[in-house]
Amino acid sequence: QSSPLTDTFGRHHTYLRISLTERCNLRCEYCMPAEGVTLQPKSQLLTTDEVLHLARIFVEQGVRKIRLTGGEPTVRRDIVDIVARIKELPQLEHVGITTNGLVLTRLLLPLQRAGLDSLNISLDTLKVDRFEKITRRKGWSRVIAGIDLAIQLGYRPKVNCVLMRNFNEDEIVDFVELTRERPVDVRFIEYMPFTGNKWQTERLISYQETLQIIRARWPEFQALDNGPNDTSKAYAVPGYAGQVGFITSMTEHFCGTCNRLRLTADGNIKVCLFGNKEFSLRDALRGNCTEQELVELIGAAVRRKKQKHAGMLNLSQMENRPMILIGG
Ligand code: GTP
Ligand code: 5AD
Ligand code: SF4
Repeated sequence: QSSPLTDTFGRHHTYLRISLTERCNLRCEYCMPAEGVTLQPKSQLLTTDEVLHLARIFVEQGVRKIRLTGGEPTVRRDIVDIVARIKELPQLEHVGITTNGLVLTRLLLPLQRAGLDSLNISLDTLKVDRFEKITRRKGWSRVIAGIDLAIQLGYRPKVNCVLMRNFNEDEIVDFVELTRERPVDVRFIEYMPFTGNKWQTERLISYQETLQIIRARWPEFQALDNGPNDTSKAYAVPGYAGQVGFITSMTEHFCGTCNRLRLTADGNIKVCLFGNKEFSLRDALRGNCTEQELVELIGAAVRRKKQKHAGMLNLSQMENRPMILIGG
């Protein structure tokens, strides 16, 4: 199948991650440097009309799933309106959001009414003091309330847990335990290096190590089938309501089945999470280029996508944006 969204390795990109803001109401250590990041003036960021315009073009070219990210997407004032307008795009099948969960008790019902299909909530610890240490802010119980509300409203939220040595490895079992009664998919994410996040090899807790810890407690822990483009490897404890997944970006990359493109808040198309080769669709849009030209620019960026990222050691040296400016 040949389309502007098919790369030179035959990967067809049907999933677009749109970052809606560079701001966040938390300050997670693994996501941004302690001093914060320099925010760009609003004029440099995509307006809501521009986001919708680009989203429509991507959907016309074959994107079927859009995920809204940030920074923290819920700090964008018109987030509910954006979800509603994205949902109106014909042919789009799925709109999701990745959020820190802090304001879900206020926003989730309006988001659901706007058509939000799914949500992934970041939570790295089940202990209040650790939450405040890693996020440099308060709010743990609000996140928990957000997860419970999501379940009440009929969602099956994914709970994203970044594992870091000397921080939360002793909570792996507790996170699995969370899936006993709750229909949630807990996903353990390998800690990845980004500009300014003080990544060290020693702090990485690998998929295999995590699996061993879980198997020591639940020998029956079982691998399940995965979708063709899943970022995570699915498992479950038989009989538990939820599942457990592993996002193994560092030790077993999944670039071969990558179907993801990214749009940064300042309007760059970023074809891979790693690497800093980007192209400004904002400038093209504001330069009044035609739709056909925009499609060609997107196609050219997609064709520059590499087969895979550079491997563990190279990644940590690689020039990239800080995570907060990518959105995961
Ligand atoms: P679903 O759409 O629900 O499957 O979620 P997702 O895993 O695509 O998105 P989410 O925002 O929940 O991301 C979870 C983790 O997966 C984050 O740490 C992301 O950085 C990582 N991730 C998402 N997409 C990619 C990718 O294309 N490559 C790599 N290496 N990691 C990714
Ligand atoms: N390594 C792995 N995952 C990360 N995330 C943010 N920073 C990192 C990192 N350095 C996760 C967040 C969120 C998702 C979008 O990415 O916890 O759940
Ligand atoms: Fe896709 Fe790049 Fe992630 Fe590999 S590292 S899965 S190519 S976004």
